[in-house]
Amino acid sequence: MGAVRRGQRGSTKARRAGVGMRLSGDARDRWTDAEFAAEWDRAADVGNPARAEQLDLLAHLVARRYRPGGVVLDLGAGSGLVAARVLAAVPEARIVAVDSSPAMTELARRRLQGTGDRVVFIQGDIADLSAVALPRADYQFVLLVQVLHHIPHPAKERLLTRLYSLLPADGTAIIMDRIGLAPASLAPIFGAAWEWEESRAAQKSGWDARTFLGRLAAKDDHPATLDEHVAMLRAAGFAAACIHLRLNRAVFVATK
Ligand SMILES: C[S@@+](CC[C@H](N)C(=O)[O-])C[C@H]1O[C@@H](n2cnc3c(N)ncnc32)[C@H](O)[C@@H]1O
Repeated sequence: MGAVRRGQRGSTKARRAGVGMRLSGDARDRWTDAEFAAEWDRAADVGNPARAEQLDLLAHLVARRYRPGGVVLDLGAGSGLVAARVLAAVPEARIVAVDSSPAMTELARRRLQGTGDRVVFIQGDIADLSAVALPRADYQFVLLVQVLHHIPHPAKERLLTRLYSLLPADGTAIIMDRIGLAPASLAPIFGAAWEWEESRAAQKSGWDARTFLGRLAAKDDHPATLDEHVAMLRAAGFAAACIHLRLNRAVFVATK
């Protein structure tokens, strides 16, 4: 890990909670590394002040539209935080949780061990969902929480088209993700907006505007902009809209 520069150090509160490493060092994600996975799980809200509110909205949408027998397909399910949130809102829901990282899936198994057969875990790469052995089920919801930005655009388009075929007429896809900030010329405004977000965050990251923007630039992932998300969903056949937005964190819903 390189030297920690001013503004890159996690806050005292974050360091006390044991989340300093992910916040202060390499901005890239190492999902197969068990230590990284555990640290991400402990600090999922740090550096993402919108997450709790957006997960609350997601759980509300599932609870309001859920019909008995419906199955929730949680893609990039990670350590099971989203599935746990959904089950708290809809205890009778059944969930198929797919993730490519054994380390994250192990955390999810532990978190959800009391849920019996209501959660099925599948290891697979959702960039090629056709190669993932999904159980045959009445998938009423597909959730993509903070995972689509890991997938290159052409594979995103194929995935969304496949999800359109998978969902029934009353199906809903919910994407909650980091979006690409554009245009680049607005970077000073995005930085100032980040400082405002950080000042109100329940869990501080300790990132100033420069660190926030620098970390985004250092990531080797593929966040689509807000407009690209809506365009890709519509091109796949969905009726789609962004229903919640805080700087670079958005929630999109898509129905048939
Ligand atoms: C930021 S975490 C989000 C986890 C969970 N959705 C949440 O919000 O708590 C991203 C997750 O996506 C998984 N992931 C990344 N690329 C993936 C892919 N191509 N296929 C399946 N899972 C993937 C990672 O292993 C990680 O668990």
